[in-house]
Amino acid sequence: MAFTMARLLIAILVAVSPGWATADVSQTSDYKRGRLLYIQCRACHDLQPSPVEKVGPNLAGIMGQRAGQVQGFTYSAALSSSKIVWDRATLDRWLEKPGAVVPGNVMAFAGIPDAADRAALIQYIEIESARR
Ligand code: HEC
Repeated sequence: MAFTMARLLIAILVAVSPGWATADVSQTSDYKRGRLLYIQCRACHDLQPSPVEKVGPNLAGIMGQRAGQVQGFTYSAALSSSKIVWDRATLDRWLEKPGAVVPGNVMAFAGIPDAADRAALIQYIEIESARR
């Protein structure tokens, strides 16, 4: 019993400790899957600050940011007035079907139907968009 509790505690600590949890996250299969899935976004979006202007807005620092706020990028009225704040949940809905979340947006992308694919991609975006 005591042994089981100790193992449970360790599991919880690992789960909630950002340092341990992200230590080698770039080696996880989800991260690698996310990196592959991001290939379909890469033509239009960078995840790190860049002087290169692509078709889509730069996604550096996107988590926690309000939609439509990248300086110098001309958004659709639909997205810039949407009041969305990007987090895992809002990104998940957006990436499933952008047109359903923000009708009239101009991102030419149909969506990713598979929930596990979206979760892996969001994990990758979360890590890479936070790098400086
Ligand atoms: C063909 C180009 C294109 C592709 C491919 C594309 N996007 Fe976009 N994306 C855009 C454009 C353009 C906008 C701005 C839409 C608007 O203003 O309505 C946008 C907006 C976004 C936003 C909102 C950014 C903000 O500043 O509010 C996110 C997040 C996003 N895209 C993520 C992705 C991800 C992840 C993928 C890959 C699954 C992807 N996009 C694929 C062009 C693209």
